[in-house]
Amino acid sequence: MKKYLFLLTIVLISVRLSAQVWVVPTENEVKLSTFAFNDSTRKAGLEIYNTNCKSCHGDPGKNNVIKLVPPPTDPASVKMQSNSDGGLQYKVSQGRMPMPSFKNILSSNDIWSVISYIRSYDLKYVQKIAATQGGASQVVVNVKILLTWLQEKNQIQAVISGVKDKTIQPVQGAEVKLFAKRYFGNLLIDEAHNTDVQGKVVFNFPKDLPGDSTGFVQIIARLSDETAYGDAGIDTSLAIGVPTYRPPLNEPRAMWNIVQKTPIWLLLTYSFTVLAVWGFIFYVLIQIRAIFKAGIKENHERID
Ligand code: HEC
Repeated sequence: MKKYLFLLTIVLISVRLSAQVWVVPTENEVKLSTFAFNDSTRKAGLEIYNTNCKSCHGDPGKNNVIKLVPPPTDPASVKMQSNSDGGLQYKVSQGRMPMPSFKNILSSNDIWSVISYIRSYDLKYVQKIAATQGGASQVVVNVKILLTWLQEKNQIQAVISGVKDKTIQPVQGAEVKLFAKRYFGNLLIDEAHNTDVQGKVVFNFPKDLPGDSTGFVQIIARLSDETAYGDAGIDTSLAIGVPTYRPPLNEPRAMWNIVQKTPIWLLLTYSFTVLAVWGFIFYVLIQIRAIFKAGIKENHERID
């Protein structure tokens, strides 16, 4: 019995330990950025870090990460810096509970920029750049995406072309994803589709997607394979959503301060209850005053 308990403990401990190791597949481990890290990429990375990562990972080197299980790694720590560039790229793209996945939120360039910022906390770091730099081994360069709104079918069509063997041609068989920009991150529309021989791909667009107050939705289309096509993407506004008024998030107490939004029954019940409570308090005060007066009167009568 004791022996089994001992074995069980060993198994449980090793499961617990292995659950904490974050394994990066070898092909991701060796990935490198296609551009050199410099002050401008670090600056871009700092901005991305402040909006997307700082809330959990805190200020690098200050050890003020938020309390989560497992705890977010301090970007300046040895644990963070001992990741390879590809390892960092993989972990930021994939995420792992409670860290969200950023592959649909940040572009591949954004992720590499934030890595360039993280690397600025490792003084010994020397960057290796992918051999594809400058589009040398990039299959297609100068990729262009043209978006068209097909109103009668409620679809968005993307036509993709690029320069290959010095001629402009349709990009065939490339995976494309379409997103709508939301307050927090991007919403994947439809699923990823591959382009046909004409470089064309069609996405079904939901009829009821909320837009801004004039119905505009910010649409982003991206090609998934950055080694072949570079960081190709398009970011544009189309009037295809349902016009929606959204109070800005920095409006003070945007959720509750609008009286027009209150249902009438709630307003009446609330007002009536407030009146009733104050009425009762006044009634009690008047009664106390009456008792007081009656006391004075009785005293006078006794004296008389
Ligand atoms: C919701 C909180 C949260 C946000 C936001 C967040 N992270 Fe994390 N991150 C974590 C947690 C928690 C872990 C540890 C996860 C684990 O070990 O399973 C982690 C782990 C990591 C790792 C792996 C570190 C290691 O030890 O190998 C990297 C790299 C990373 N985060 C980068 C980022 C970047 C870059 C951003 C912003 C683009 C970001 N994180 C946003 C919570 C967060």
